[in-house]
Amino acid sequence: MAVTAEEFRQGMRRLGGAVNIVTASDGTVWAGLTATAVTSLSAEPPKLLACINRQGVTYDIVSRGRTLAVNVLGCKHQALAMRFAGLSGEPETERFKDGDWAPGVTGAPLLADALVGFDCRVESILDAGSHAIVIGNIEAIHVAPGMTDDPLCYIDGKWATLTALPE
Ligand SMILES: Cc1cc2nc3c(=O)[nH]c(=O)nc-3n(C[C@H](O)[C@H](O)[C@H](O)COP(=O)(O)O)c2cc1C
Repeated sequence: MAVTAEEFRQGMRRLGGAVNIVTASDGTVWAGLTATAVTSLSAEPPKLLACINRQGVTYDIVSRGRTLAVNVLGCKHQALAMRFAGLSGEPETERFKDGDWAPGVTGAPLLADALVGFDCRVESILDAGSHAIVIGNIEAIHVAPGMTDDPLCYIDGKWATLTALPE
């Protein structure tokens, strides 16, 4: 029997992950969304991928502007993560009103105090159903000096973090 969307969602709740804000610019408009479906892809040349819902505003700007930035969040960014997931009750146009955002070399917005920001130009977009796989060539990386915060994660419908196991 085919797996239903609900079964898929229930299963994916167990696949915990780091929380990011994926942003884009088309030269005029900024857009961004909270995303866990972000993966390292290639070291040489440096590439990553993000899976983005094709129905959303961010996908429109990613495909039009061919830019993509991945801002890896710390626990202090939980409220921001909720806003960029559409969970704060605020309109989409208000997403960038808090936080120290500035365009990177590609024009996509970078969050100054992210754990790390990857500034990418879109190499290719693969249609994969409800979501698209967006492959980005990494043009610049902004790494915070030291781990300034614990990583923000999401598992089983809850915000969480990672802690190191005893040696
Ligand atoms: C923890 C968490 C992780 C998410 N991961 C993704 C993701 O990887 N890709 C995606 O397209 N949407 C993801 N979403 C949903 C989007 O953040 C949400 O639908 C957002 O409002 C879409 O904005 P848009 O209309 O600008 O595309 C996630 C939401 C949460 C709460």
